[in-house]
Amino acid sequence: MTDKKKLFIKSYGCQMNVYDSQRMLELMANAGYQSTSDPTTADLILLNTCHIREKAAEKVYSELGRYKTFKEQNSELQIGVAGCVAQAEGEEIVKRQPLVDFVVGPQAYHQIPNMVKNLKNGRKEINTDFPAEDKFEFLPRRPKKSIKPAAFLTVQEGCDKFCAFCVVPYTRGTEVSRSPDSVILEAENLVDSGVVEITLLGQNVNAYRVEQNGSVWTLATLIKELAKISQLHRIRFTTSHPNDMSRDLMNLFGDEEKLMPYLHLPIQSGSNNILKAMNRRHTVSQYLDVINRLRIIRPDIAVSGDFIVGFPGETLSDFKDTLTLCEQVRYAQAFSFKYSRRIGTPAAERPEVSENEKLSRLHQLQSVLTLHQKDFHRKMIGNEYPVLIERRGKETGQVVGKTPYSQPVFVKESIDKIGKILPVRIHSSHTNSLQGISCHQHSY
Ligand code: 5AD
Ligand code: SF4
Repeated sequence: MTDKKKLFIKSYGCQMNVYDSQRMLELMANAGYQSTSDPTTADLILLNTCHIREKAAEKVYSELGRYKTFKEQNSELQIGVAGCVAQAEGEEIVKRQPLVDFVVGPQAYHQIPNMVKNLKNGRKEINTDFPAEDKFEFLPRRPKKSIKPAAFLTVQEGCDKFCAFCVVPYTRGTEVSRSPDSVILEAENLVDSGVVEITLLGQNVNAYRVEQNGSVWTLATLIKELAKISQLHRIRFTTSHPNDMSRDLMNLFGDEEKLMPYLHLPIQSGSNNILKAMNRRHTVSQYLDVINRLRIIRPDIAVSGDFIVGFPGETLSDFKDTLTLCEQVRYAQAFSFKYSRRIGTPAAERPEVSENEKLSRLHQLQSVLTLHQKDFHRKMIGNEYPVLIERRGKETGQVVGKTPYSQPVFVKESIDKIGKILPVRIHSSHTNSLQGISCHQHSY
C-alpha cells in the first residue's frame, strides 16, 4: 500500500505548458505526490492554463465548475490554477470561483510545494510574481527514466515583440534565456534517461541569447553544442519569429543532420497592411525571403505557420492576400484562428470584424491549408523515412512514430521498438497522419 497523495494535472494550450506541467509533476513527486489520470481520486488538482484566446481561458472556468462535487465529496481536496490565466487574472480567479485554493503564475511554479503547505484554515495563496530567482534552479533533476523518447526542453521564455493581439508579453513576461550550462545539463539528463529527441522551446526561441564569459550564445551555438551529445539523435525548436532567423540558424538546417527539417514560422497574415497593424515589424516579402533561403539550404524542409483571420481592420482584400501567401508557401502544416479580443492588448481597442465574417474567412483559409497539408503528405507515399517510434497505437500491434517532418505515422510494429528510429515506407496518408510499413532489416 502506498500512502502517497495523488496529483491530477490538466494542461491547456501550448507545448511550453506541457513542459511546465511535466516539471510540476516532477516537483510534486519530490513532495510525496504521485500522478493520477483520474481527478475524482486526486488530493490535489492543478490546472495549467492558457490565456491566448478567450475560449481557452473560459474552458478553465467550466472545468473548475465540474470540480464542485469533488470538493463536496472530499473536503481535503486542494485545487490550484497555474499558467497564463493565473498570471493574467490572479485574485479574480478566486473571486469568480471560490473553490480554488491557490493561484500561481508561470514564473513562480517552483513555489507550489510551499504554497500547498501553507493552505490552512481556508486561507488562499496567490502568487503571480516574476521572482528575481530563476525557477529552473529550484526544479529537481529530470527523473532517471523517461517514459517517452521525445521530450520538450524550455530554453527561453517571454516575448519582447508585443504583437498588437497577443497576451504573451504580459503573461510570460519579457524575453529571458536560460543559461547554456543549465540547458546542456538538462539535455544530458534527458538523454541519460532514454530521450533521443529534444524540442527546444521558447515563445521566441530563436531570440535565444546569452552573453557568457565574453562570448555570445545564440540558438545556433546552443544547437551545435547539444548535437555533440552522442545519444541525442534529433533536435527541433519552436516557436520562431521571422525577424530572428539568423543566417547561422538557417545554415544549420543544411549543416547539422540532427536538426530536423521542420520549422514552425508563424506570419499571422499575408497582408502588409495587417502585418503593420499587428506590429509584426516585417513585411510579406521579408518573410518569403526567409522561406526561400531556407529552401535553398534544405529543399525538403517542412514549413509550418500560424494565422489569425478577422484581425481588426482586415478587409476582404487583405484576407485574399493571406490566401495568396499560402499558395506561395504551401505549408506542410498550419494553425489558424479567429481573432480573439484580449483585454490589455493594443488591438482590443479597435473595431472588430463581424463574427460571421471571421468564421467564413476561417473556413476558407482552413480548406486551403488542409489541401496543402494533404498534398505534402501524399507526396511522401512510396518513400522511406527514418521514423522515431514514440508510443503504442490504439490497435494492438501498432505503434506511432514521427517523421523528420513531424507528422505522426502509424506502423505495425512491436512496442519494444519504442525509442528506436526505424526506416518506414509510407503507403497511405490522411490529413493529419500517415501510415507506413516498417522496413527494419536495416535501422539507422
Ligand atoms: N486571437 C487569435 N489568435 C491568437 N494568437 C495569439 N493571440 C491571438 C488572439 N488574440 C495565435 C497566433 C499565435 C498562436 C500561438 O495563437 O496565431 O501564433
Ligand atoms: Fe505573441 Fe507576437 Fe510574441 Fe508571438 S511574437 S508570442 S505572437 S507577441
